[in-house]
Amino acid sequence: MRYETLRWDGRTLHILDQRKLPDAVEYFQARTYKDAVFAIADMVVRGAPAIGAAAAYGVCLAALEYAGLPKTEFLARLRAAGEALAASRPTAVNLRWAVQRMEKVIHGQESAEVGDIVSALLEEAGAIAREDVETNKAMARHGNTLVPQGASILTHCNTGALATVGWGTALGVIREAHYSGKNIHVYANETRPRLQGANLTAFELVEEGIPATLIVDSAAATLIRDGKVDLILVGADRIAANGDTANKIGTYMLSELAARFRVPFYVVAPVSTIDFSIPDGRHIVIEERAPEELTHIRRVRVAPPGIAVYNPAFDVTPHENITAIITEKGVLRPPYAESLLQVRD
Ligand code: MRU
Repeated sequence: MRYETLRWDGRTLHILDQRKLPDAVEYFQARTYKDAVFAIADMVVRGAPAIGAAAAYGVCLAALEYAGLPKTEFLARLRAAGEALAASRPTAVNLRWAVQRMEKVIHGQESAEVGDIVSALLEEAGAIAREDVETNKAMARHGNTLVPQGASILTHCNTGALATVGWGTALGVIREAHYSGKNIHVYANETRPRLQGANLTAFELVEEGIPATLIVDSAAATLIRDGKVDLILVGADRIAANGDTANKIGTYMLSELAARFRVPFYVVAPVSTIDFSIPDGRHIVIEERAPEELTHIRRVRVAPPGIAVYNPAFDVTPHENITAIITEKGVLRPPYAESLLQVRD
């Protein structure tokens, strides 16, 4: 990727504005933690690992903003900022995971000076960002062992460099397969309503010269039935302890098709996306977004005023439909209630 999803310059978080892709490559500047909350909620930045890293830098922005306050007030403001960042989107658990990592640093430094706490937080956010890229590359290597030569791969939403700090999860496996000379072809679902597939995945695939075809989400069934898809690779926003997986709306439908036509269905996600605190997918909060995402396309109205709208951003794929979960620690197979525990940190 020629562009960076997130760039920290020591004082400001520069975020590639994904609302404007593919037409314009512009950076949104988050100078306060409230800017970071806005950027996550409005999807300037999106994708579970990317919003986790953005939230970690959001905590740094709060630390820098409040560094002049007496220590108890500084810590109270930091706590409030962490809560606001963790709540900026409800489904991806990486947000909470990243904020908790930052909180751990604060607790470990409680007797330190404010300046030292700020330095430790900056260090930790940098580590979260660096580790994300390493994690993605490890997942890509594991995932690539499952991709046959000449494979036709279907993917949904955007799970690439744009959804992470770099390289990507499911799209990271696709990158690895492409660069290892496997001669793959990708079908990218457009991913209504926000069009992450058309705007972002297609952008990444074209940028890198990976052979790909864009389809409307509803064309997937025909392709799968006609034997034109060898495997499906998707990311995840939260994986419950039994393997049930929340991901972009439409993923569940794909998993049912995969089960019906016996196409391998792989979830690619870091261990930080596993939420061991919930036993199954029924406990995952599914974000519902604004009706305008359906009634308008790029501010042009496409549905009549007065129509009711249901707009869940995610759905839950039952663990039975998942062939394997690819993590940085290896490829996990059912029963997930057991295999997930083996990679728990
Ligand atoms: O609403 P989004 O665009 O943040 O949703 C993103 C997804 O559903 C991705 O598939 C998921 O976060 C995994 S990304 C590496």
